[in-house]
Amino acid sequence: MYINGKAWRSIWLEKDGQTVGIIDQTRLPHQFKTVQLLSADDAVTAIRDMLVRGAPLIGATAAWGVFLGLQEDSSDKGLETVCTKLLAARPTAVNLRWAVERMRSVLAILPPKERVAAARSEAAALCEEDVQLNEAIGEQGLRLITEQYERKKRPINILTHCNAGWLATVDWGTALAPIYKAQAAGIPLHVWVDETRPRNQGAHLTAWELAAAGIEHRLIADNSGGHLMRQGRVDLCIVGSDRTTASGDVCNKIGTYLKALAAADNKVPFYVALPSSTIDWDLTDGMAIPIEERAEEEVLFVFGQAEDGSIQKVRIAPEQTRASNLAFDVTPARLVTGLITERGVCAASKEGLLELFPEQG
Ligand code: MRU
Repeated sequence: MYINGKAWRSIWLEKDGQTVGIIDQTRLPHQFKTVQLLSADDAVTAIRDMLVRGAPLIGATAAWGVFLGLQEDSSDKGLETVCTKLLAARPTAVNLRWAVERMRSVLAILPPKERVAAARSEAAALCEEDVQLNEAIGEQGLRLITEQYERKKRPINILTHCNAGWLATVDWGTALAPIYKAQAAGIPLHVWVDETRPRNQGAHLTAWELAAAGIEHRLIADNSGGHLMRQGRVDLCIVGSDRTTASGDVCNKIGTYLKALAAADNKVPFYVALPSSTIDWDLTDGMAIPIEERAEEEVLFVFGQAEDGSIQKVRIAPEQTRASNLAFDVTPARLVTGLITERGVCAASKEGLLELFPEQG
């Protein structure tokens, strides 16, 4: 995607061919800074501390993390150590496991001296594929937005939660890809952006992406969506996913479930956009997905820019108050209108998914 006329991806191999560049997403929207990852430990820290986040980008960073780790030690033990470290970085997005397993299966069968070069090409291929899959999701989702526009002949109001834009993937995004495609197709749009407490990925990242792309949007407090739906001011919800079960349950940023409930009550279509790398074919019950619990501090404090331009961290609760910070929730398949994948839109069910991915049957 373009920032001030320059094309960016969220992760890249640096010109030295040995290190990896990322955008430090903890600084957005106030500062645009890139960071160079020099080691597997840097990749683990970037994932854990959320300099990179979003399921597909976590997977892509892990793939590059394997490449960085093998430059330090390409033996069997080195490969095992780096994979184990990366797998422990964050628990919920299945793309992390998917990417590490893909790297491991390609690399384990090679002699150690061939592993670094092979890891470089596999990580690069995984990233290229991510871009293509997300662009295809954009095309599939565009059909849904077009249908709404042809019926209503007015700007289409889409509600999204968290950030499932290009910053959450290598490029394009998942939930935002159809929106970028619709903009390019000339369909008038307006996006309701949930701020997404506690880390505010909506306010910090989605609003920043949409502003950079010139897409009309309004930031809303997380609890506004239900009321807007009752007022008929939401035509479509599109969110991303961190892990989708083989039966169509969807785990995404905390608060997604409440939006799906409100959408069902108001008959607003609720779509989830995801690449197949986000499907956990081994799970059928969404409640079995490990839900990340993050630091209390993220709920007790907010980060933002003060009027003097400085970035400040401000406590919003009494000193003695404790917080609970569950980062994701599970939306049962029955509340999901459809899954937008790279191969098409399907019902959120085992049958729906197997129609698009028969090889998993
Ligand atoms: O905690 P985060 O910021 O990694 O959570 C991200 C989300 O919940 C996204 O909606 C999800 O990963 C889909 S990204 C294309």
